[in-house]
Amino acid sequence: MNIAIYPGSFDPVTNGHLDIIRRSAKIFDKLIVAVSVNSQKKPIFSIDERIEMVKKVTSDIENVEVKAFTAGLLVDFAVEEKAKSLIKGLRAVSDFEYEFQMALINKKLKPSVETFFMMASEEYSYLSSSIVKEVGSLGGDLTGFVPEEIIDDIKTKLASK
Ligand code: PNS
Repeated sequence: MNIAIYPGSFDPVTNGHLDIIRRSAKIFDKLIVAVSVNSQKKPIFSIDERIEMVKKVTSDIENVEVKAFTAGLLVDFAVEEKAKSLIKGLRAVSDFEYEFQMALINKKLKPSVETFFMMASEEYSYLSSSIVKEVGSLGGDLTGFVPEEIIDDIKTKLASK
């Protein structure tokens, strides 16, 4: 079974993430969305809330599993999950430098785990979780940016901040 991991903070999951999830799930037998702790970020949603949102929007994709990844190295998590591949989405050149460094470090740490980069679809190349939070907090319409099913969750969270 060819298993891949798609890691990220997903604070919250956007239509850009969902596009990468759907496209990757067609290529691999199983895709594990690893909802992660990024030590450099302060998420507004708890890990359980982020997992719930990703589960909600991927419930129709049979070979997608959503798991928490909260400690240790990503490559060790991949080995534990018997995944040989990591999927990273790239929107613009600005994503590349950081992702390139992570891919090379991960390769050094665990040569058996490969990183695959998937270009974001053009219509989502401007999207990020941060921009969604900014638009939402300023009262903007989130339709088209995030899946419909989680718009209320995001509005409620932003209103409580
Ligand atoms: O969505 P994000 O916040 O850009 O995701 C970043 C994430 C969680 C994929 C990245 O921070 C990560 O891989 N963390 C795991 C820790 C690790 O393995 N670090 C060493 C390789 S850089």
